[in-house]
Amino acid sequence: MFDFIDRRNTHAIKLEKYRDQPLMPMWVADMDLATAPCVSKALQSRMEHQVYGYTHPWPSLNQSVVNWCQQEYDWSIEADWIVWLPGVVPSFNLAIQAFAKGGRVITQEPNYPPLRAAAKLRGCTPVALPVTFNGATWQWDWQQLEQELAHPECHLIITCNPMNPHGTVLSPADMARLGALCEQYQVVLCSDEIHCDLRLDASSVHTPAGLVDTLAARSLTLMAASKTFNVAGLGCSFAIIPDNALRQHFRHCGHDLVPHPNFLGYFAAEAAFTQGRPWLSDLLGHLRGNQHRVAEVINGLSGLRYRPQAATFLAWIESDFGPGEALRYFNEAGIMPSDGKDFGDPCSVRLNFGTDRATLEQALTQLSDYWRQNRPEVS
Ligand SMILES: Cc1ncc(COP(=O)(O)O)c(C=O)c1O
Repeated sequence: MFDFIDRRNTHAIKLEKYRDQPLMPMWVADMDLATAPCVSKALQSRMEHQVYGYTHPWPSLNQSVVNWCQQEYDWSIEADWIVWLPGVVPSFNLAIQAFAKGGRVITQEPNYPPLRAAAKLRGCTPVALPVTFNGATWQWDWQQLEQELAHPECHLIITCNPMNPHGTVLSPADMARLGALCEQYQVVLCSDEIHCDLRLDASSVHTPAGLVDTLAARSLTLMAASKTFNVAGLGCSFAIIPDNALRQHFRHCGHDLVPHPNFLGYFAAEAAFTQGRPWLSDLLGHLRGNQHRVAEVINGLSGLRYRPQAATFLAWIESDFGPGEALRYFNEAGIMPSDGKDFGDPCSVRLNFGTDRATLEQALTQLSDYWRQNRPEVS
């Protein structure tokens, strides 16, 4: 079911960016796999209509999100809380515009490049909160976080949960603690949860920000079908904002500035959230198998370290090499991962294993052969 789809001649960013280099593209976060059949079918049926005009979200679409949140996260939301948007990146940028008051904006580090860039782009002061491995999981320093939240110019924190690039899911206890701090210091939380459905560690529990009592009045939870169902090109996501005043202000700030989502994204989302669960369960099984192979091979290569993450199809591979060296070795082995430098750590790389097993095995074989022949040394 999860066969490789040849993406040549589709103008896919993944292939285009390095088109002149003979490298296997394993970087940007989309998959080389077909979306769920129920999603393709919904899109095909809408395309057949041949009129593609302005389209508003409709009640059964909103209901599909309501049901998904209930079923997946035990989170009872109201349809009115949903704000449809053309992507998660514009959503967190808009959140800065709406709530940061030109002040300090906290984000994790390392982090997804547009999350690192957003505060500065919107004229605010970025505050990068280091996230490090504490022997069990990736965590920030709570004392440091509290100091930053207490700063009189801090009105907004943007979290990435599950984290990109580490793939860590913040525990329910972490979320409760974060919520209490945000309440104490009257800080709004914008939570990028685009990867939350892709939980590979079945024992991990994802807690949407708005589900936490103390955060209901001060949070935006950003979600989408885009990563889960591999429809990122359709430009469609949503924010769940339980608080009426917060939601109205957010909407007002985006009015006539942020475009409507692509209407096809609505159709994909409704099909995905109403009929896509069995396919998603199969996909997670496939990705778990891929992850297992990545861990087996990468952890056998000197100087590299991969701690299998709880969520996402992205392997964050740390190295003992100097800045840029791991990336160079991967490139020399014929593989193009994401450069860790863009996430804030030039010694690491991020490998996208959202592909079929044969392609992954090919990449892992190339890496093993390269390591055997060249024996990269830690200086
Ligand atoms: C954490 C995170 N947020 C947002 C996005 C992109 O969101 P969108 O395409 O909806 O703007 C990505 C894509 O990789 C991501 O990893």
